[in-house]
Amino acid sequence: AASHGHGPFIASIDQGTTSSRCIVFDRDGRIVAVDQKEHEQIFPKPGWVEHDGAEIWANVQEVTDGAIAKAGITGADVKAIGITNQRETTLLWDRNTGEPVHNALVWQDTRTDALCKELGRNVGPDRFRRETGLPLASYFAGPKIRWLLDNVDGLRARAEAGEILFGTMDSWVIWNLTGGPDGGVHVTDVTNASRTMLMNLATLDWDERILASMEIPAAVLPKIRSSAEVYGTAAGGALAGVPVASALGDQQAALFGQTCFAKGEAKSTYGTGTFLLMNTGSAPVNSYNGLLTTVGYRIGDQAPVYALEGSIAVTGSLVQWMRDQMGLINSAAEIETLASSVEDNGGAYVVPAFSGLFAPYWRADARGVIAGLTRYVTKAHIARAVLEATAWQTREIVDAMTKDSGVELTALKVDGGMTSNNLLMQTISDVLDAPVVRPMVAETTALGAAYAAGLAVGFWPDTDALRANWRRAAEWTPRMEADVRDREYKNWLKAVERTMGWIE
Ligand code: G3P
Repeated sequence: AASHGHGPFIASIDQGTTSSRCIVFDRDGRIVAVDQKEHEQIFPKPGWVEHDGAEIWANVQEVTDGAIAKAGITGADVKAIGITNQRETTLLWDRNTGEPVHNALVWQDTRTDALCKELGRNVGPDRFRRETGLPLASYFAGPKIRWLLDNVDGLRARAEAGEILFGTMDSWVIWNLTGGPDGGVHVTDVTNASRTMLMNLATLDWDERILASMEIPAAVLPKIRSSAEVYGTAAGGALAGVPVASALGDQQAALFGQTCFAKGEAKSTYGTGTFLLMNTGSAPVNSYNGLLTTVGYRIGDQAPVYALEGSIAVTGSLVQWMRDQMGLINSAAEIETLASSVEDNGGAYVVPAFSGLFAPYWRADARGVIAGLTRYVTKAHIARAVLEATAWQTREIVDAMTKDSGVELTALKVDGGMTSNNLLMQTISDVLDAPVVRPMVAETTALGAAYAAGLAVGFWPDTDALRANWRRAAEWTPRMEADVRDREYKNWLKAVERTMGWIE
């Protein structure tokens, strides 16, 4: 990273699904330094995914100190720390020792499928949708807490006695950062809380009726705060003494970083999974088309801003699977070269329902398929079908979004690691029949957390100042013939159909 003068700066910590990162930003929203470290993905059984909470906290400390060192600055140059994180991933720990009682259950983990079915018995999967905006699905944190309480020996009694704390990764990082067992603050923000299935979207507080239904003791829960306010100060490391001033789930942070501050503005982030969020203004909009209603952000004591979300579980992780499990490519970047070596998918379709299907289907019984195979199909066709899977899943979400919001997307703002894949971006524009635009700073997740923290401490005056930082870097426009698009969409939907009902 180049030098950007003399600051002051904001540091963002992004605790993601595959890695933890710290990025230092200047006042123009430009990146000054980045440090990053991957952590282990633990797969104890098919469908189970875990992370080691202690490893994650160690990595967060390392990359934070690393980014400050790379920037060639000290904590005194940093005005605030922003936190953003993989959402829903659930950790319980001992408040006295700071030790996790079990590995974290990651958002992709499907072990609570049966429990979710049981919770929805006689009522259906929308039992808590009115209060929480979410369907009963293994994706969300509440059932994961319940699973841990039921399955870790003696845990429920300790939780009821107030010895155990629950947190998504925002809470875990903030608690440790502000002192851990020695005075760490136990908080979460409204966006992360909105993914637990335990928070009431209208009151923005824990819903006692749902806690009772899920048998979760309130004693384990953090206090719900806004997304942009000072929660405490860092107790150690290179940033000791710096205020911790924001927390947002990574997808909401990207919405903020893309400066989608007006109703109807939307972004799609292409990472491990893909998440398309649309700002719906100051009132929650119910979904009748398989989307989630969630909190977009809340700045201090201002009114909350809500969002509709289409969540796709598997996009970038499908490319990783092609590389690591199938050995069809050596690097993620190679998929573009391989896919570009053929004209089309050769009739093949890949539907990566590895964790069931998320939006708009919410089918736990689905598992992945490769459809349309003939002797003609090569690995290059499969590579193409892999990229198309991300594009068609985006299309399905956009269609649902249009129905729920009544807003036609005129262009899609994109970000995330996969946006460096030109063929993918072109394909998304083709299947949406709409332009796709990427901003200069593609690290919008970390940027959004920096923006929120900067607003909280007066580093930036208001959201208008942030909008001025958004600059277009690239744009793709549709080139596909309408009849090809229609035929391919039909084939895609046929392949999706084949994934359902695989698990009895
Ligand atoms: O809901 C899960 C999402 O927050 C994960 O994002 O970027 O860490 O894959 P990411």
